Amino acid sequence: MSAVLERDVVSPIAAVQPKSAVRTVRVGLVGLGRVGQAVARLAPEAQRLRVAGYRVRVVGALVRDVSKRRRCPRLARITSNAAAFLRGDYDVVVEALGTVQPARSIVSRLLGRGIPVVTANKELVAAHGPELVALAKQRRTTIRYEACALAGVPFLGALAARPLVSDVNELTAVVNGTSNFILSKLEAEQCAFDAALEQAQALGLTEPDSSRDLDGIDAADKLALLASVIGWGTLPRHQLRPQGIRALTAADLAAARSFDRTIKPVAFATRIGTAVSAFVGPAALPLSNPLASLHGTLNGIRLHGTFVGDLFFSGPGAGPDITAATILDDVVESVATTPTARVATPPVTPISPLVAPPPTGWLIRATFPGFVPDAAALTRLFDAHDLHATRISEPIDRSRWLLVAPIGHEALSPALACIDATHRIQTHAIRSL
Ligand SMILES: NC(=O)c1ccc[n+]([C@@H]2O[C@H](COP(=O)([O-])OP(=O)(O)OC[C@H]3O[C@@H](n4cnc5c(N)ncnc54)[C@H](OP(=O)(O)O)[C@@H]3O)[C@@H](O)[C@H]2O)c1
Repeated sequence: MSAVLERDVVSPIAAVQPKSAVRTVRVGLVGLGRVGQAVARLAPEAQRLRVAGYRVRVVGALVRDVSKRRRCPRLARITSNAAAFLRGDYDVVVEALGTVQPARSIVSRLLGRGIPVVTANKELVAAHGPELVALAKQRRTTIRYEACALAGVPFLGALAARPLVSDVNELTAVVNGTSNFILSKLEAEQCAFDAALEQAQALGLTEPDSSRDLDGIDAADKLALLASVIGWGTLPRHQLRPQGIRALTAADLAAARSFDRTIKPVAFATRIGTAVSAFVGPAALPLSNPLASLHGTLNGIRLHGTFVGDLFFSGPGAGPDITAATILDDVVESVATTPTARVATPPVTPISPLVAPPPTGWLIRATFPGFVPDAAALTRLFDAHDLHATRISEPIDRSRWLLVAPIGHEALSPALACIDATHRIQTHAIRSL
């Protein structure tokens, strides 16, 4: 009886015997910052890799400053000389630099030599993904970038391997954990924007340049990458003018909640035929939308597919340790599969100019110079400008919030400018999906 019980409680990992022949994979690290160090720490510890038949050995790293103290095991070779690093022998190279250059040149050189590359650098993949994938194919090797978007959620590889599932015509995503953290704090703690930002910075959540998070630049890069990976082509990134979250207040979140909505930092794109429209910015989502349940730094993506309806993936979007785990899985996949098999292959074809996003609802904050009108007067005023309010909040200080029926941005914008000019009512509009 006890023997049966013992067998029952054996963990699945222990139950699987390591493969008899363990293959050593020599990895070079381009960048030994937060992500690179996490890879170097995890590689020797990850027993699960041994179980899968691999021992990952980090054999060298390229950095800017070799004298910096690092929080990882000592490496045999660490250099600030790119040419010396490139002369090394690697089975796979992990690129975790964080800027387009010199990453692009280094990755191109490695792929040119037929060395598989795994990258966490979304700026690089957003700007040059198709060109690097084409080079990898030409040299019969691979570039993998699962960690570039929703770093802890393994979905890019799954989509790349499944042509029907990845036939997607709409995506809505929360891809910037820092913005999501700040908006979650505004909602839960009713604090000032700067106080929420300070908390994010204290936790090390912001990028070195926090405007990439706060102004939607990081999310726009990831949207470009996602559009490419799901096979739509190269998004004209310069046409995506992301809206940031800096103008939002705790009162906006409270007003949204009174309408059974919450505000999330959203990246959205939809495709009809070959026409694509997209936006990046805060959006009020009904609480029933699965993206509304993503609190703190969580990321998520909702895909609407031609064949599979709605798909939803969510999980941690960043963090050195989780990113390192995804990277090491990519490393193993790079050596486990044949060069032409299973790899995301974004087409090089550019998407023609973006078309205007479809009409959406809007959550409008109206701030009055003095007297706050009642709901009926406000409804009449907005009706007169073809903006039809479906809900109006109670006043908070000198502001009221209106939920407005779907209308395109090109019609909304002049209507709000006119209301502002004639009635001195300051407005701020957030999409409502
Ligand atoms: N942090 C995350 O949670 C996360 C998650 C997913 C993806 N990513 C992406 O992963 C990449 C790395 O992020 P990170 O947080 O690890 O950045 P990081 O801490 O700033 O590390 C960057 C590393 O690159 C090295 N480096 C920078 N410029 C260089 C140059 N010109 N030549 C040689 N080495 C250079 C730096 O060297 P020194 O150390 O000598 O300065 C450092 O080791 C970024 O693309 C980021 O977007 C990060």
